[in-house]
Amino acid sequence: MMESNPSLASLIDSASAAVAELSGQTARWRAAAPGRVNLIGEHTDYNQGWVLPVAIDRYTAMAAAPGVPGQIRVRSLAIAQESSLSLDQLHTPHRDPWMRYVQGVIAQYDSRGVHCPGLDVAVASSVPPGGGLSSSAALELATAHLLEAVTEQALTGSERIEACVQAEREMAGVPCGIMDQTVVELAESGQALLLDCADQTARSVPFDSQAPALLVIHSGVSHALAEGAYAQRRADCEQACAQLGVNTLREVSPDQLARLKDEGVLLQRATHVVSENQRVCDAVTAIEQRQWDRLGALMTASHRSLRDDYEVSCPELDLLVELATAEPGVYGARMTGGGFGGCVIVLVASDRLEAVAGSVSGQYNEHMGWAPGCYRIQAGAGAREICTAL
Ligand code: GLA
Repeated sequence: MMESNPSLASLIDSASAAVAELSGQTARWRAAAPGRVNLIGEHTDYNQGWVLPVAIDRYTAMAAAPGVPGQIRVRSLAIAQESSLSLDQLHTPHRDPWMRYVQGVIAQYDSRGVHCPGLDVAVASSVPPGGGLSSSAALELATAHLLEAVTEQALTGSERIEACVQAEREMAGVPCGIMDQTVVELAESGQALLLDCADQTARSVPFDSQAPALLVIHSGVSHALAEGAYAQRRADCEQACAQLGVNTLREVSPDQLARLKDEGVLLQRATHVVSENQRVCDAVTAIEQRQWDRLGALMTASHRSLRDDYEVSCPELDLLVELATAEPGVYGARMTGGGFGGCVIVLVASDRLEAVAGSVSGQYNEHMGWAPGCYRIQAGAGAREICTAL
């Protein structure tokens, strides 16, 4: 029922073996980066608000060996594809969308004076693609650490995050916020990361084995409208700010929202962001005071707000939340990530995890005709070069 979770060591081994096969040489450099799941604080990052994600114990691992000068060849075991990039074409988006994440990071480093030599690279990953678990940020940060290992030139943590955010915006064309790349880089094992997206300060919030379990359920859908809708939500928020005469929705109090009462959609968008920021702060208190019912209720309220006011959910995610929250032992559930498909996150008593996964999965299958993917998630550590055998 639960999806298997290969160890990081086995992913590194697979990537190393694949690069040896591709290049005929032993892998010389290795790096890995986790995916992420957001506990709460959705669509608040680009509004300069707060988010509370965790890095997950599922990773993208990369291994590399010297390659033909001027060429990057990449074999992805994750999606069973191979592609190559000419280093003199760094700034033209690659024809293979997945390669743009690798290319984008190499291009960003190039413009910061870190030049990539010819390489053969292999990628192995246990982060489900298209699930809203930041498989893209994992690929970007793994590429960044790999490149630093190869060139022996290191950026600072914040420069590295910035390079990966820029890669995603410019090469993949997604006008994303900073949440994904920041948590993928900075996360610590057993901790959630409270990130203030205005000044980019972060602090860890213990989310360890004493906390309830995290069950992530993949709806199996990813809607094509997602990217256009994401940009539209950003534009709505900017328009709401203009109407209110503020720079960011972070500065807006619930009382001030009344001034948008004739603005329909803008009122809805702003209501979500303002209330979600408050929920993040309340969630941190709930975690610190080990009030799991309270945390669960905040998560479910976040889902309703995303569904009704921000309008980024979809029937499949709503169904999963409805099924999960009806189960004994579940504290709360919500969609996680950008929305329009992907995953829900369920806060559940550890001893009920398997039963809840089985029950929700069976009922979802009856409704939809396919079973969702179920993942038990632990809060893992951030991206890094892998120097020695694990
Ligand atoms: C995507 C983006 C993030 C964030 C979330 C929504 O994952 O990459 O920056 O905006 O959507 O919270």
